[in-house]
Amino acid sequence: MSLFNVYPLFDITPVKATDVFVYDENGTEYLDLYGGHAVISIGHSHPKYVKAISDQVAKMGFYSNSIKNPLQTELAKKLVSVSGCKNYELFLCNSGAEANENALKLASFHNQKHKVIAFKNGFHGRTSAAVAATDNAKIVAPLNAQQEVEILELGDLESLENALQKNDCCAVIVEFIQGVGGLDQSTAEFYESADALCKKYNTCFIADEVQSGFGRSGEFFAFQKFNVTPDIISIAKGMGNGFPIGGILIHPSIKASFGLLGTTFGGNHLASVACTTVLEVIEEEKLMDNVKVISAYFLEKAKNIPQIKNCKGRGLMLGLEFNEPVADLRKRLIFNQHIFTGSAKNPNLLRILPPLTLQKGHVDAFFDALKTELK
Ligand SMILES: Cc1ncc(COP(=O)(O)O)c(C=O)c1O
Repeated sequence: MSLFNVYPLFDITPVKATDVFVYDENGTEYLDLYGGHAVISIGHSHPKYVKAISDQVAKMGFYSNSIKNPLQTELAKKLVSVSGCKNYELFLCNSGAEANENALKLASFHNQKHKVIAFKNGFHGRTSAAVAATDNAKIVAPLNAQQEVEILELGDLESLENALQKNDCCAVIVEFIQGVGGLDQSTAEFYESADALCKKYNTCFIADEVQSGFGRSGEFFAFQKFNVTPDIISIAKGMGNGFPIGGILIHPSIKASFGLLGTTFGGNHLASVACTTVLEVIEEEKLMDNVKVISAYFLEKAKNIPQIKNCKGRGLMLGLEFNEPVADLRKRLIFNQHIFTGSAKNPNLLRILPPLTLQKGHVDAFFDALKTELK
């Protein structure tokens, strides 16, 4: 049986990885500034993480959500202390799309409205409501297009209030730093007013922190730079450092009831241990401080490259904008310089999404390589 051919693949086969490096089957070392698409947070094969997962799988890998799982409670406790998000409740699932799907569904259960407001260049996943709220017609099937979604310009408060006034919107969903769309951010005024408008019109304000969460922005959550209180926060990617896990943090104004949400695999024993260990390492190794230091160093060095027209994003969620498409440059970085970077919807943007353990020496190596390829 062949694989359903949906991914255009680079001709490289990674077989091993440590911290910020990935190795192919010939032993070639690649500097990973892509993090498997912002997934690797505490570094590949972190020894504490490997031990925790190995120990857990030797005891018990999985059991059902209809039986007590204290590992989920432990994870929730650690998440409160590392994120500073007190009072929220936690529902665990398996991916970013599933997190947003549950967030949107829960919003609609809560206020009994049905329409979703999302923003241009936003990406929220590929499942039913999540993909309908994603600004990319190519991945929205007719089935998904039945959902009622209005996509507004990021920053357009007037249109937002006009839409909310109609009183049919269950949720406004926003990435505080856009990922796939190209690292755009709006202003504090926009985010704070959007939050206030949601409260005024009884609409849930959903922060999609699937990519920007778990320390990647330098704050635990990107929204924490602003004075906002999301009703629901969706999380995934960096949570498990590669172990599939997602979730939503739910404000106590939204009440649970038996059967409202559910999943077979979500928050299983292995996933819970993976995520708790990620949180412990983020705290013990002060990775959010590291993100701030390395991000500032990276941005300073980027100023010396005349071909870089603009730097976007925050923390270790950055985009380097050039005057022309970067597809070829990205290939040369991989095959000539052995450095992985990411791409975005904006073809001129090179994305930098490394493990949060990145050090100054790795940044130096990247800029030396970039200069060579830009000559
Ligand atoms: C902001 C954001 N939300 C949701 C998703 C979907 O996550 P997943 O691919 O785990 O379903 C992504 C994936 O790139 C994302 O960047």
